[in-house]
Amino acid sequence: MTLIAYYSKTGNTRRFVDKLGQSAVEITPGLTLEQPFVLVTPTYNFGQVPLEVTEFLYRNGDHLTAVIGAGNRVWGANYARAGRLVSEQYNVPLLGEIELAGTTQETENIRERLRLLDD
Ligand SMILES: Cc1cc2nc3c(=O)[nH]c(=O)nc-3n(C[C@H](O)[C@H](O)[C@H](O)COP(=O)(O)O)c2cc1C
Repeated sequence: MTLIAYYSKTGNTRRFVDKLGQSAVEITPGLTLEQPFVLVTPTYNFGQVPLEVTEFLYRNGDHLTAVIGAGNRVWGANYARAGRLVSEQYNVPLLGEIELAGTTQETENIRERLRLLDD
């Protein structure tokens, strides 16, 4: 199973990743990964990728294999936009989008897509 790297400021993304039940690392300043990983990133500040994630990808983006975007639907067109931005910029597949800590259905869908990555 691919390693998951995630950023979480208020805990929603962390709770989602915990539900997936596979190896994961939280993005902290200066984190360097030497292996492939799937990124899970929330969206902040009007549809933006969090600065901490941008900085992390600047150093580790070569190992990025796929991305999952998170957000809150109240943000309309900017909902979970960080995932779409990273997918375009790094040319990796967007595995899906989740709201807050993810519904049961969203979580199952992502789990299945992560499994398919290993085939
Ligand atoms: C200041 C602020 C700005 C936000 N901007 C967006 C946004 O543009 N798009 C979106 O989908 N969600 C937005 N959100 C919602 C967060 O992405 C959502 O709460 C997410 O689950 C936070 O993840 P975390 O708890 O792991 O930090 C915003 C939340 C805050 C507090």
